[in-house]
Amino acid sequence: MTAATLANCGSPAYGCDFLQLDAGDAPAGGKADWLARRLREAIADGRLAVGGRLPPTRVLAAELRVSRGVVTEAYRRLAEDGHVEGRRRGGTVVVAAPFSQPSVPSGSRPCRVPEPVAAGLTVPGALFAGEPDADVFDALRATRARVDFTPGLPDLTAFPRAAWLRAERAVLAELSAGNLGYGDPRGAPQLRRAVAGWLATSRGIRVEPHEVLVVAGTAQALTLLHPVLRADGIEGVAVEDPGSLGTRQHLRNGALATPPVPVDDGGVRVDALRATGARAVLLTPAHQFPTGVVTSGERRRALLAWARDGGLILEDDYDAEHRYDRPPVAALRALLADQVCYMGSVSKLLAPALRIGWMVPPPRYRDALTDAKRFTDLGNAVLPQLVLARLMESGGLERHLRVLRGRHRRRRDAMIDALAEHLPGAVVHGAAAGLHLTVTYALEVPDVELAAAALARGVKCQPLSWHRQLPGPPGLVLGYAATPPGTITEGVATLGETLRELA
Ligand SMILES: Cc1ncc(COP(=O)(O)O)c(C=O)c1O
Repeated sequence: MTAATLANCGSPAYGCDFLQLDAGDAPAGGKADWLARRLREAIADGRLAVGGRLPPTRVLAAELRVSRGVVTEAYRRLAEDGHVEGRRRGGTVVVAAPFSQPSVPSGSRPCRVPEPVAAGLTVPGALFAGEPDADVFDALRATRARVDFTPGLPDLTAFPRAAWLRAERAVLAELSAGNLGYGDPRGAPQLRRAVAGWLATSRGIRVEPHEVLVVAGTAQALTLLHPVLRADGIEGVAVEDPGSLGTRQHLRNGALATPPVPVDDGGVRVDALRATGARAVLLTPAHQFPTGVVTSGERRRALLAWARDGGLILEDDYDAEHRYDRPPVAALRALLADQVCYMGSVSKLLAPALRIGWMVPPPRYRDALTDAKRFTDLGNAVLPQLVLARLMESGGLERHLRVLRGRHRRRRDAMIDALAEHLPGAVVHGAAAGLHLTVTYALEVPDVELAAAALARGVKCQPLSWHRQLPGPPGLVLGYAATPPGTITEGVATLGETLRELA
């Protein structure tokens, strides 16, 4: 390096011989690819620590004698993988390290029992044995894995930190002391107004702010409903089959029966629903969990006829905003206000950790649900509600959703390509929208065994049978939104090898 170049290297944070990179090693026409790969390796082996800053593109481009576009493109790829994040004046910061592949001596079989990581939780080896316990998701979450295909998470590295901070600063600057007292148990008026606006534009639901109840996610909405349903003489809620194990657990926790109703290509089977005699049903009509089926027009009409006959629909609109290859579908609540209790949250839009969601109940349940919320926690924390309201009303949430859609689509495509290559016999379901897809396969390998063996090799996913009460073909539920494309390919390859070995 020349004295002149040395003199130009201003910041001690990155050093002049940055990672000993030599652009002479790069193949012609593949410089951005080469640079992204080198940076990824350096993040993986700790030379670039999480929290550390990458050199400004101009500085690195000058040092490597490449165009600035090459460096910008390499940083863009790393950002898309979720390893770095652009922070305006803070530069480009490393935010997550890729998992490095554990080295398995050749000839040895991989360890079959993954490491338990948190005391008091189910031993992971036992995770997939027998009926899943109430803490099964906690135990799975606490189990380390090289590749995590847990469904239900958006790309959390894309959380709009800067926009959230700006909104929080603006809220604090304007906040009166009175706002720091106890809030309205139904939610801050600003957020209820913002949610009403969001539901109108993105879900076709026209409601007044006073009809919205702010809650701590769909999970809490279901818990608040327990006493309200019981007071209405409802002792059970029919559920889709396959259907979410998590939401079924929440109903069961309130001692509500959960009779299963089969789902086919049109959605939940309304004839089978009628046959259960249930007065209420929990549905995911916009993107059925886990199959991804969109309720057909004919089935929607049949469902609404069932509801008009006195049935109550609990509409879980958990990830409806995420769609790629199909037009939006309006929520059922938009069509029948009196018999549909609508539930949504920011868990799939921003982050589950925020624990903010909303309900739009039928008018006759509104007061009882407000009482239930008041006696549970006196209402959600006010400050995050105000920040979220600001983000919604400023268009920040909409912008974030657009960013997410692009990223999620690329990840979805990577997973579909990898499945075609590594699990060619598997059938992919529900890939046109959402944050996960489901695969079924014709082999006689129980999906719990496949999921256990995959976890032993460092790939975490959920067996489809967890989400069933009725018998059905084995499969896996694979979340793709929170995993970078390269890691998706690696994880699916492991799933393919594992399935071939077990078959
Ligand atoms: C189908 C379904 N509904 C609801 C929830 C719970 O969402 P929330 O975070 O809003 O409580 C989940 C969680 O993953 C889910 O998968």
